[in-house]
Amino acid sequence: MAIKSLDDLFTHFLKDMYYAEKQVLKSLPGMIRKAETKELRQALEDHRDETEQQIENLEKVFDQMGMRARGVTCQAIDGIIEEAKEIMSEVEGGATRDAGIIGSAQAVEHYEITRYGTLIAWAEKLGKKDAIQLLEANLAQEKAADAKLTKIAEGVVNDMAAA
Ligand SMILES: [Fe+2]
Repeated sequence: MAIKSLDDLFTHFLKDMYYAEKQVLKSLPGMIRKAETKELRQALEDHRDETEQQIENLEKVFDQMGMRARGVTCQAIDGIIEEAKEIMSEVEGGATRDAGIIGSAQAVEHYEITRYGTLIAWAEKLGKKDAIQLLEANLAQEKAADAKLTKIAEGVVNDMAAA
């Protein structure tokens, strides 16, 4: 489908995020399995549940637009997840791998934060009021997850990894 308007571009980014969230949901169990620090495992488990909600929120946005929820391949998230897998397999266990998992997970969060920020700005321009609320809810969760990961890294994991 050709992208001719901001509305089309909004739809494209929405599909991109729908794909991204689904890929994130698929990748989280592997990260949870490899995480050794209790707080990190818990944070990733919580975020897996949040990601399920986020996918439902995106489905609601598609629904509001009278569209069937459908993803479009997002090479950015595929690359970030691929890199995370590489780091997890290359770093031997322990706190160093946990530090790597946090770094990778934060790259995911930051990608999602930038995409939701853009979608919200466009939704405001396009008068998609109901969509804004749902997208804001997802954005708030991504920001909170990112902050939680920073706290775990700086409070626990980085010290152990550096020791
Ligand atoms: Fe997400």
